[in-house]
Amino acid sequence: MNILVIGANGQIGSELVPALREKFGRNNVIAADKKISKKSKSSNDDKDLFLDVLNKESLEKIVSENDIQIIFHLAAILSAIAENVPQKGWDININGLMNILEVGRNHNIKKIIWPSSIAVFGPKTPKINTPNDTILRPTTMYGITKVSGELLINYYHEKYDLDVRSVRLPGIISNKTLPGGGTTDYAVEIFYEALKNKKYISFLKRDTKLPMMYMPDCISAMIMLLEAESSQLKRRVYNITSMSFSVEEIAQEIKRHIPEFVIQYDPDFRQEIANTWPESINDSLARKEWKWNPSYDLCAMTKDMIQKLKKRVL
Ligand code: SER
Repeated sequence: MNILVIGANGQIGSELVPALREKFGRNNVIAADKKISKKSKSSNDDKDLFLDVLNKESLEKIVSENDIQIIFHLAAILSAIAENVPQKGWDININGLMNILEVGRNHNIKKIIWPSSIAVFGPKTPKINTPNDTILRPTTMYGITKVSGELLINYYHEKYDLDVRSVRLPGIISNKTLPGGGTTDYAVEIFYEALKNKKYISFLKRDTKLPMMYMPDCISAMIMLLEAESSQLKRRVYNITSMSFSVEEIAQEIKRHIPEFVIQYDPDFRQEIANTWPESINDSLARKEWKWNPSYDLCAMTKDMIQKLKKRVL
């Protein structure tokens, strides 16, 4: 089973690749990215490849030369950046996905895992305990690309029987690689600032509440979705979540570990994006159909983040 991870050096990829290599063997996992990490440059690692997802020819070459059967497609422009560069957001998020789907059907790829996002929801969607099937009318460029992506993967599944699977990820919190250009990034930055400077100025308001997840749960969701039997899956796209908190609530939780920590609020354009997203989402279908069950809540995640980051940041 040869696996290709695209966007391997991003926030999720940089933790998913080691987890997949551990589970399926190092030689079976190819890590591809447009940014090549310093480590792989210096080691000339033949399992770490350069790939621009918009270059379909080189994608095809990597897939056939390495006899790839499974693709994790993680390369994306996140919500805050996509608002500033909408054309680039569309190109990477949609034309990139189209390349994967086309290569998928032409090369008989067995499974494709592609994350969607809570950004598919919009101001008209129910904001609390948002169901899997609901109004999808986002008002952000990122959200528009994710809804279009969901429609595309359903189309390729219906028409070509391509096995593409997706989860709508909430904000992902991790202690290794920083996220790049999302609206939920504050929930990672706050830890670094709390440890280094005992102070954080939040770009979201005090009472803005969003769904979130700790990286170990995100990685296990990706692997569970990959391993789920086709007969378990009644749909292509699932809501998943593990906690929801406001900026004030996470600040309070951090204060329990770092009493001197102070938070201030200075909302910017990302507030408007956050205002259109749900506060909490209902993931009962993922729990029922493929036994999704996260391990970390706000308290456990905060404790682990601080413990791990202390060793590196201080
Ligand atoms: N974390 C993402 C963002 O903020 C949401 O999918 O853009």
